[in-house]
Amino acid sequence: MKFFIDTANVDEIRRAAEMGILSGVTTNPSLVAKEGRDFVQVLKEIVEIVDGPISAEVVSLDAKGMVEEALPLAEIHKNIVIKVPMTVEGLKAVHQLAQRGIRTNVTLIFSANQALMAARAGAAFVSPFIGRLDDISVDGVELIADIAQIFDIHGIETEIIAASVRHPMHVTQAAKAGAHIATIPFAVYDQMVKHPLTDRGIERFLADWSKLQKK
Ligand code: E4P
Repeated sequence: MKFFIDTANVDEIRRAAEMGILSGVTTNPSLVAKEGRDFVQVLKEIVEIVDGPISAEVVSLDAKGMVEEALPLAEIHKNIVIKVPMTVEGLKAVHQLAQRGIRTNVTLIFSANQALMAARAGAAFVSPFIGRLDDISVDGVELIADIAQIFDIHGIETEIIAASVRHPMHVTQAAKAGAHIATIPFAVYDQMVKHPLTDRGIERFLADWSKLQKK
């Protein structure tokens, strides 16, 4: 499973990229609004940091508007992937963009049928939101497993991005369930990297080493 970062914060993207773990970035209108910066400028900075798919979401609700928004975004860089909501209009936009060779990431996926429809419309990626399903007492990771099984049975090459990841266990579970990618907030990377036994181990090694220096 590959790691994407779910943020529009360039500093966080840079810090995750420096760890050498990052294969891509996802943004959404809420994440972009949080930064309060020009979207196109943010995308131009991100493509310089990460050499992988960078999802940029459209906000129109009709297919024509989505495609009109998508075209200049896709012009920014070959790695820009257009994020489109899972609606009838979204599917139409995905189909039209695929015909132009523009990759899409269908977002707000909450069922296996939605994922299957998005894949058949020509999406390069689908983003099932596991945390938001957990929030309403539905097992989000089970949805990842269902989609992975269906895509495998039918030889579908659309990649599954486990989205709405809230904690390290989601990451492990998504990997076991067959997600190709998890898009993870920076704070969760911070949690994933740490283990108290690692910290204690380093302390003990350094203490023993300093004893040797004193001899
Ligand atoms: C996916 O690409 C979305 O940006 C994101 O994972 C949404 O997560 P949230 O439910 O934490 O807002």
